[in-house]
Amino acid sequence: MTSSTRDFSSIGVIGLGTMGAGIAEVFARNGYQVVGVEQTEESLERGRAHVEHSTGRAVKRGKLSEEAQAELVGRIAFTTDMADVKDCGLVVEAVVEKLHVKQQIFRALDEIVSVDAVLATNTSSLSVTEIGTATSHPGRVIGVHFFNPAPVQNLVEIIRTVVTEPQVLEDAAELARSLQKTPVVVGDKAGFIANALLFGYLNHAASMFEGHYATREDLDAAMRFGCGYPMGPLALLDLIGLDTAFEILDTMYKQGRDRLHAPAPILKQMVTAGLLGRKSGRGFYTYEAADSPVVV
Ligand code: NAI
Repeated sequence: MTSSTRDFSSIGVIGLGTMGAGIAEVFARNGYQVVGVEQTEESLERGRAHVEHSTGRAVKRGKLSEEAQAELVGRIAFTTDMADVKDCGLVVEAVVEKLHVKQQIFRALDEIVSVDAVLATNTSSLSVTEIGTATSHPGRVIGVHFFNPAPVQNLVEIIRTVVTEPQVLEDAAELARSLQKTPVVVGDKAGFIANALLFGYLNHAASMFEGHYATREDLDAAMRFGCGYPMGPLALLDLIGLDTAFEILDTMYKQGRDRLHAPAPILKQMVTAGLLGRKSGRGFYTYEAADSPVVV
């Protein structure tokens, strides 16, 4: 927990997909009460299963006791009613990377939470400023950008807009530290720090694969064993989700007009065909379980 003047004891998370489920887990793991909101009962169950699977792996690896896992999951209230976040001091939105959807959620949250509450988006590439315009108090709107998988990756980018209140930034950075994460503060420019540097590289790898320049295994092996990256670019794209990766690249391209970010056509084709990566069971690789690539 933090020593901030804001009451962050209860945290809302909107959207329990790849990122939201992980973010809910991170807060719950660090003692926070979490209200996790999804659209439908079906997606809510998927979100709950995601948290149970992820914490179950920690139990199997001996990093978490069964009691601690039950307590952790018990700290998350799963709901389909967004109004249930009304007492939260911070709400983190982690729904699809589409501006109109996020603005709709921020408009609704603005009416639900107290004026002291901080509204954060986990967007990877959209303008936090534009998302904030959907609210009546844009000074309390920030980006809190976790990395995938949120329970594992230590970085949190905190995005300030030109109207973000300095105290909100400080409180958010302190909150991130209370999650054992390293916060970095960055202005509201597409891609922030890490993705601005990373996605040109991932897109280039997809183009090389598309041009039959090398096999997926060799592309990935080159970066792992030649450059010391923990994952190859195509396996990483599968982890990110090809739909999300496409949206991020498309937004960065539209903002910066840098050809590096013009999404490789194969990404769009794979998304249209339903090959979204790990979350759909198939992307550049085929997945049996959530984490083991099976070569087909
Ligand atoms: P996802 O597609 O896995 O999950 C999105 C979830 O939001 C879905 O479960 C969907 O049912 C839910 N949702 C949609 N509309 C909703 C609503 N109105 N109310 C409640 N739930 C709703 O997407 P993912 O990958 O988790 O991305 C979420 C956000 O996180 C995006 O802004 C993305 O750019 C960002 N992000 C993604 C990363 C990644 O590696 N996938 C990394 C860091 C940030």
